[in-house]
Amino acid sequence: MTNDMTNEINILLVDDEDSYREILSKRLARRGIHVLQAEGGEKALQILEKHPVDIIILDVKMQGMDGIECLRHIKERYEGSEVIMLTGHAEIHGGVEGIKSGAFDYLTKPVELEHLIRKIMQAHNKIRRCLAEKQEIEFKERVKQQMVVAERLVALGTMATGVAHEINNPLAVIKDSAGLLQQILSKPEMRTIPRIDDFEKGLERINKAVNRASKITQQLLQAVKTQTMDMVDPSTFVEVSLKELLEEAIALVEPEASLKQIKVSLKSVEPHPISWTDPFQLLQVLLNLLSNSIQAIAVDSGQITCSLSSSLEEAKIVIKDNGCGISKENLARIFEPFFTTKDPGKGTGIGLYVSWGIIANLGGLISVESDIGKGTTFTITLPVKK
Ligand SMILES: Nc1ncnc2c1ncn2[C@@H]1O[C@H](COP(=O)(O)OP(=O)(O)O)[C@@H](O)[C@H]1O
Ligand SMILES: [Mg+2]
Repeated sequence: MTNDMTNEINILLVDDEDSYREILSKRLARRGIHVLQAEGGEKALQILEKHPVDIIILDVKMQGMDGIECLRHIKERYEGSEVIMLTGHAEIHGGVEGIKSGAFDYLTKPVELEHLIRKIMQAHNKIRRCLAEKQEIEFKERVKQQMVVAERLVALGTMATGVAHEINNPLAVIKDSAGLLQQILSKPEMRTIPRIDDFEKGLERINKAVNRASKITQQLLQAVKTQTMDMVDPSTFVEVSLKELLEEAIALVEPEASLKQIKVSLKSVEPHPISWTDPFQLLQVLLNLLSNSIQAIAVDSGQITCSLSSSLEEAKIVIKDNGCGISKENLARIFEPFFTTKDPGKGTGIGLYVSWGIIANLGGLISVESDIGKGTTFTITLPVKK
């Protein structure tokens, strides 16, 4: 057994016999296994609160809280951990009791080191297997949700395009007519008509509103176009350092953030994740997410934490804020076009719709978790450069 296999395993050894615990810890440490120690059940639970571990080796017979009681607490609180019980020769029933309460296995004292390490490896393999299974289930669930959203968005997109076109025509008529009236009002013979100022102001307001409405329809048409592009144009793809791109996005929203005294931080792993993607489209998504976070934060203790990580397959960008959060009902709708909870003039409800389309086109996924009153976390997963 090499250190490579064991040095990623964290263990808590719980035994009230000091010398036995010390010696066993040392011997395990010599084999590259990192061991924390506790001299009793209560202490073990305290340690676990701060330093969760993969495997707990637990003596059955201890002063105070005994091993079985401690085991039950552990199993209640730390689903992913495995417990190996240690029993005296005379108390094998304790071990059996432990298995009934969810222990991985039990060994009788004095334990042979090789035997213990083999058990530890078995428990560790089980943990890894369970984790992989859990991740696979989560991944499938995410893809399924994504498909449901995709179908709805395509339907909504078709409808939205129709509506946008229909609205563009009357908007053009309103704009032309307002322009014509402004021209007529500016003629010298019209300058003396009563309440000319009110006419002018009214027309100005009509113009502004029309401009805003056409901007929305344009954005929407653009959004639907982005959404329905089956293929992205690979010629726009380059190697993108996600850290540099995120830094650029943060710098761009910095003035808006500092107005509200919001702290924006960035954590990244080494080496920095590199994706093969379209930097301009991705920047647009990051800006959308960051400005949503800024807008969701009202107090001056606001914080936005961005982090980057990557595996062999994918890179992850996480943008987390401690803003107002999103209710369950709204969470199901935030990617729809025009869905907004903001005042007119502040939100159009297009940002996330576009972002979703862009990320899907870049071969990635975008997901969200939110707790009302606590904050929101958006996660973007992108393919990495291979
Ligand atoms: N970080 C966030 N925190 C709270 N709510 C959010 C966040 N991001 C998005 N939302 C909700 O999703 C809605 C849609 O977002 P978006 O598509 O960007 O449109 P807009 O920002 O124009 O309203 C927002 O109105 C808001 O209710
Ligand atoms: Mg927005």
